Amino acid sequence: MKKLVSILLVLVLSLSLLTVASAEAPKKVGVAMPTMDLQRWIQDGDNMKKQLEAAGYEVDLQYANNDVATQVSQIENMLLNEVEVLVVASIDGGALGTVLQQAKEAGVIVIAYDRLLTGTEYVDYYTTFDNYKVGQIQGQYVVDKFDLENTDKTYTIEFTAGSPDDNNAGLFFAGAYDTVKPYLDNGKLVCVSGQTDFETVATPAWKSETAQARMDNILSGFYADALTGGQKLDICLCSNDSTALGVTNSLVAFGFTAENIPVITGQDCDIANTKNMVQGLQAMSVFKDTRALAEATVKMVGEILSGAEVETNATYANGVKDVASFNCTPVFADVNNYAELLIESGYYTAEDLAVTE
Ligand code: BGC
Repeated sequence: MKKLVSILLVLVLSLSLLTVASAEAPKKVGVAMPTMDLQRWIQDGDNMKKQLEAAGYEVDLQYANNDVATQVSQIENMLLNEVEVLVVASIDGGALGTVLQQAKEAGVIVIAYDRLLTGTEYVDYYTTFDNYKVGQIQGQYVVDKFDLENTDKTYTIEFTAGSPDDNNAGLFFAGAYDTVKPYLDNGKLVCVSGQTDFETVATPAWKSETAQARMDNILSGFYADALTGGQKLDICLCSNDSTALGVTNSLVAFGFTAENIPVITGQDCDIANTKNMVQGLQAMSVFKDTRALAEATVKMVGEILSGAEVETNATYANGVKDVASFNCTPVFADVNNYAELLIESGYYTAEDLAVTE
């Protein structure tokens, strides 16, 4: 009898152990974001977390304060935490090498989020917007705004690009520069400072203050009399909103107002910049709906974890391999369509964008 009881006990125990093992524990997904300094990444993180959790995954979301070492150790922790998919919006796309290899060895699938992971074979997929197209939208805006195809006039332009360690920055700049280059070549556009190569116009870490300081120098060096009938400045082609904000602050401090400020381009539709558009201080931005990017990424995570075919529509060369990518579409935004794009779609509330003097 004793024997029977113990056999039964063992049976019951093993059965319950089996049930515990087979009860689906939620799969874990690590999401490594670069910084909370810029509004767009906060939105990206929030959207990813919300949508992944709704799909039944457990999410480990971390922000690295724009510090590569912090991001590496956050990813190491995510691996210890046994994530099955890693979504990384890098700070420096080429600086994560060994931790990505560790991920590979642990069988973790790596998705580069918005920023490509470069110089490594240990990246599986990439979700982003068409980054070259973002630049083309900015450049085409300038071409159309000044009717460069038909005008006999000459307009002046200065360039501000993004961070040299971000693969996107070169693509944004190339898309914009290639679009306006015919008009620099035929003299309808003139860059008075002569600063047209990416390295010279780049803004490390995309910092507004850095873009502002560089614009201060350009203004005092080449456009000091712009407001008193001297050399005028017509266009500031900026790659994104954080750099556009710095450039706008510089121009406003110099004395420009909504009435005479140069045409400034941007990207992201950050709140401060959208307010500037409403006030006539920034001409346009490019809206990249982070909800759409999160949705595409969550869909990809689902495809990976269920063993389904992963849908991609582009590839990006990362220096070592062509990374299969899913590109979302960037959209032109200005004062005429911002309400529909941003408020009616629920991206921001009207109060978010209310301008208070
Ligand atoms: C993103 C931009 C953003 C910039 C600065 C880029 O990688 O694609 O949307 O403005 O980083 O954070």
